[in-house]
Amino acid sequence: MEGGNIRQWLNLLVCALLLLIAEASYVPITYLQNAVAKGAVCLDGSPPAYHFDRGSGTGINSWLVAFEGGGWCNNVTTCLSRKTNRLGSSKQMAKQIAFSGIMSNRQMFNPDFYNWNRIKVRYCDGSSFTGDVEEVNPVTKLHFRGARIFAAVMEDLLAKGMKNARNAIISGCSAGGLTSVLHCDRFRALLPRGARVKCLSDAGYFINARDVTGAYHIQQYFSQVVATHGSARNLPQSCTSRLSPKLVMLFPTIFSVTYHYANLLCKRSIRLMAALNNWRDLSSPFPDPQNVVLIQIKNILAPGVADPEGHWHSCKLDINNCSPDQLDLMQGFRTEFLRALTVLGNSSYKGMFIDSCYAHCQTEMQETWLRSDSPELEKTTIAQAVADWFYERRTFHQIDCPYPCNPTCHNRVFEPQDDHQGV
Ligand SMILES: *[C@@H]1O[C@H](CO)[C@@H](O)[C@H](O)[C@H]1NC(C)=O
Ligand SMILES: *[C@@H]1O[C@H](CO)[C@@H](O)[C@H](O)[C@H]1NC(C)=O
Repeated sequence: MEGGNIRQWLNLLVCALLLLIAEASYVPITYLQNAVAKGAVCLDGSPPAYHFDRGSGTGINSWLVAFEGGGWCNNVTTCLSRKTNRLGSSKQMAKQIAFSGIMSNRQMFNPDFYNWNRIKVRYCDGSSFTGDVEEVNPVTKLHFRGARIFAAVMEDLLAKGMKNARNAIISGCSAGGLTSVLHCDRFRALLPRGARVKCLSDAGYFINARDVTGAYHIQQYFSQVVATHGSARNLPQSCTSRLSPKLVMLFPTIFSVTYHYANLLCKRSIRLMAALNNWRDLSSPFPDPQNVVLIQIKNILAPGVADPEGHWHSCKLDINNCSPDQLDLMQGFRTEFLRALTVLGNSSYKGMFIDSCYAHCQTEMQETWLRSDSPELEKTTIAQAVADWFYERRTFHQIDCPYPCNPTCHNRVFEPQDDHQGV
């Protein structure tokens, strides 16, 4: 009797373990060797790479192309420091990565996209795939070729069947979320006319805010990115004709946007900038002058490098460590962020899921994408909201109440090594 019970328990345990293991599947890397001849290479000159899990059944003509994030490099020094890691060299990339959340191949974890063709494009150029400089400095041997990588990846995927796409999403988180928005129109233009094509930006919303010194360091930072990588002519034309390139990089992006969203932003961002210029300096919670102010649409905060004095260090890792003053400043930032959003306007083809969880990148993690306890707004998970928006089943625009009101949040405790620019 007792033996039977133990066996039952063991069976249950094994099942639970298998379930846990299967929550993510591992997908091997593919190097685009023939991209090298076109000069489409990582910072160190190595070939670009992606991970591709083929679609099946009803998903055979549906494509999800997710771009990896990982901040930016704004000058030769910061770009050189990437040459020896995965953000600048495919030689340093893991040979396989886990696909979960929106990337999952299991129906129970990802009911609307599990059988699509799912691609994760690795990030190794440091410019959100916008760079294109022909010359290679003989001393540093750095290649600034992000835009060529984008083009080479697209050419490859179109040949592998994406040219027949009926449904397609370009997505990404953080710097990858910016990639999604900056390349939104271009992606749309590559696909068949009748296809349903949308752009999803997870935590890719960067507001143009001052730091404590009152300077717009983020603006300066992005202008350095654009200058270093020669990005100007690869930013959406509809934007650059109206604004200087450095401002284009700052276009607020939305969690989920339609393909022509980037265009709309151009028109509207002028007003947004004006709104922010009138903003009295709240002294932002990001005291580091070189910090990229990473106010993510679904985060309160996940900013860049630590402040020199370390006042924000422990707070940034774990929101439970923040002082009341720090929480106040963060709430002030949230208010500013929401004000910036209202300037963007609102229409049924745009979707928004703005939670107040202390998190970064929630679409590619099973626990935040779809699980019995994952974050919800109006009883709706991120997985459901994205699918409803994509298939136009209903309009979804939800903004959470301020932290810490939402009990469904998974507030992350970040590791010190996570606490660097843009990750
Ligand atoms: C490069 O950029 C970083 C980060 O903004 C900054 O700390 C550094 O001083 C810059 N280096 C040069 C040589 O401009
Ligand atoms: C957008 O419009 C919807 C109704 O279509 C409304 O429920 C929602 O609150 C609006 N969102 C914003 C940010 O104005």
